[in-house]
Amino acid sequence: MAITYNAENALFRIENARFSYVFFVNSKGVLQHLYFGKPIGETDLSSADLGWDWSKTYLSADGAEKIYEDNYYNDRSMAEVPSHGLMDKSGAQFVIEKSGGVTATSFVYKKHRIYDGKPKLSALPSTHGDDAQTLEITLDDVYGNERLLLSYTVYGDLGALIRNASIINCGKTEIRVKRAYSLGLDLPRSDFDLMHFHGDWCLERFAERKPLANGRFTVESTMGRSSHEKNPFAVLCDRHATEDTGEAYAFSFVYSGNFTLAANVDKWRRTRVLLGICDEDFSFALGSGETFEVPEGVLVYSDRGLGGVSRTMHDLVRNNLITHKKAKAARPVLFNSWEGCYLDFDTQSILAYAENAAKIGAELFVLDDGWFGKRDTDCSSLGDWFVADGKIDLKKVIDKCHSLGMKFGIWFEPEMINPDSDLYRTHPDYALGDGGYERTLSRHQLVLDTSRKEVADRLFKDMSAILDKYEIDYIKWDHNRNIGEITGSDTPYGEVCHRLILGTYSLLDRLQKKYPEIFFEGCASGGGRFDLGMLYYNPQIWTSDETDPVQRLFIQYGTSYAYPLSVMGSHISKNPITSYTAKGRIALFGTYGIEMNPCLLSESEREEVREVNEIYKKYHCEVIQNGDLYRLASPFEGNYTSMMSVSKDKSKALVLFANVLKENNRYRFIKLKGLDPDKRYSNSHDGKIHDGRYYMQIGLNFTAWLEEFTTFLVVLEEA
Ligand code: DGJ
Repeated sequence: MAITYNAENALFRIENARFSYVFFVNSKGVLQHLYFGKPIGETDLSSADLGWDWSKTYLSADGAEKIYEDNYYNDRSMAEVPSHGLMDKSGAQFVIEKSGGVTATSFVYKKHRIYDGKPKLSALPSTHGDDAQTLEITLDDVYGNERLLLSYTVYGDLGALIRNASIINCGKTEIRVKRAYSLGLDLPRSDFDLMHFHGDWCLERFAERKPLANGRFTVESTMGRSSHEKNPFAVLCDRHATEDTGEAYAFSFVYSGNFTLAANVDKWRRTRVLLGICDEDFSFALGSGETFEVPEGVLVYSDRGLGGVSRTMHDLVRNNLITHKKAKAARPVLFNSWEGCYLDFDTQSILAYAENAAKIGAELFVLDDGWFGKRDTDCSSLGDWFVADGKIDLKKVIDKCHSLGMKFGIWFEPEMINPDSDLYRTHPDYALGDGGYERTLSRHQLVLDTSRKEVADRLFKDMSAILDKYEIDYIKWDHNRNIGEITGSDTPYGEVCHRLILGTYSLLDRLQKKYPEIFFEGCASGGGRFDLGMLYYNPQIWTSDETDPVQRLFIQYGTSYAYPLSVMGSHISKNPITSYTAKGRIALFGTYGIEMNPCLLSESEREEVREVNEIYKKYHCEVIQNGDLYRLASPFEGNYTSMMSVSKDKSKALVLFANVLKENNRYRFIKLKGLDPDKRYSNSHDGKIHDGRYYMQIGLNFTAWLEEFTTFLVVLEEA
């Protein structure tokens, strides 16, 4: 890994074993992009600059018409920081309104430094880790007094480049940041397919792939959270790219609020990718001397297709994003009460749940929604974080769990408030929306204004009171509605959405510093906030409220393009369509847990769950949680889903195969991937031993009569 600067041609080169990223400072002081792709070493890139000879002229400050000496004309050159208000109309990275209404924004190089390490952002989650090198460039706006600190970080030989920016108002008057994107990337071609991950509640991250066309394609959320509907992750890949071959570029965002991820194909057939905070409802005032920190953007390059993109993302998330110290350790078998009883429980029924959960091997008992305030229906009590004493004796339940050898976890939904709550009755102003008008309720609740410090402080105090009093090992942090009205806040309108997220991050930060042992799982009506910002604080996120195993195949497969299996909350549930064994096999390709009324299980069903637990305990941590994922057959393309995960030392692998429709006998070989060709592996499918080459060339033989929804889970172990 090396970041170098060549003073002779003012050229920056960021290179490791996976990619080269090259740009230079032109004679106007503007950064021009040259190359992002497979490592190319010292190759002379001077011909890659689009110095066309039909030069354009400009009117210089002394009134004379001059010709751009180097043929640089900012419409057609590849930009490193796309400007605003000049000739380039393919999309700006920053729009900043200065005094007198000037909005042209174009940054020029002042200085740079290259150093080992990676600075932490002050109020935002960010990547981190050893073996980091950072390039930081200082630029000044030609049309104002703002300074831009641009940074690029690379971690060892990981195929990811982390981009960051901060705007500092060095002038004496206030400026308004109207757009602050984390990155712009120009690619000198447009013959890409674009893949993005859209959805809905119970339908998260369905993969869609289509040819990129002229014009602008935008994946965006204005929901106040990253959302079920769109995910802040997209891939541009060769039209013929497969799981294993072809070039692919991926884009991701370390942020949980409104975002824009756009690909613009312009008249030159250049593709410009822009990624940042969505600028609808965004306008941030920066006083003299103040800094605006832009969230981190992630670029991934792979010349090994989509699988290569995913494995890079997975390593980045596990090694350079998640902060919890126990994230890589084996996780306990989690039992969650929600789908068993919803809000309808009391001390006796939960004690019975605990006893029966322990019998099926649970090691962490999670009491979901319903333990606080007067929460007997979802119409009340969000905001009242005190135990519903008449309903549940929390201490007794926790003691019981501990005596059964289980840890104990609890549910919170801190950022929300029900109008029917003590908190609302005393502080109606804590809720967003102007009380003089109708406000949209969603799941009977309003959104708390965490952009205000006193609101976040109140949450910190109330949650701390619970966490100080009870022995709690785990928190499920939920968020069950989109943001609607953003009025009614003391925070200026254009800052509310961003400051809400900052408030949430700071609350998470304070709680995690105070209670470093507590393990957090994120959630947002299922997987409505599945993003790198949340993963920084939550080493796992509940993937979806959809626990139908067939639907889960799609949801987990789609989610796996960006996110490792170790973060994808997935449970065996009561869903009746198939056996607990089959549901368990699918849940194993995620974080794994159990969620139903455990008192209703028959002895044979308990046995099925216990058998899945055994596989979980024996293989999951090494093979799935910390291993490498290979997707083998996509549910989006055919009747089968197959994927496998291989331990990093390639000594073990787990393979899942599931069909949806019934099929008769036919040749059905699934070729495996990622094994060591020379290692010999036993397999639990036919009990034979073959070398890795055999499994990767011939494959596992699933030629059989397949009833509707048959599943196989095959264990491979080095013989
Ligand atoms: C939505 C979550 O996705 C569920 O798992 C559950 O926690 C409910 N909220 C509780 O209200």
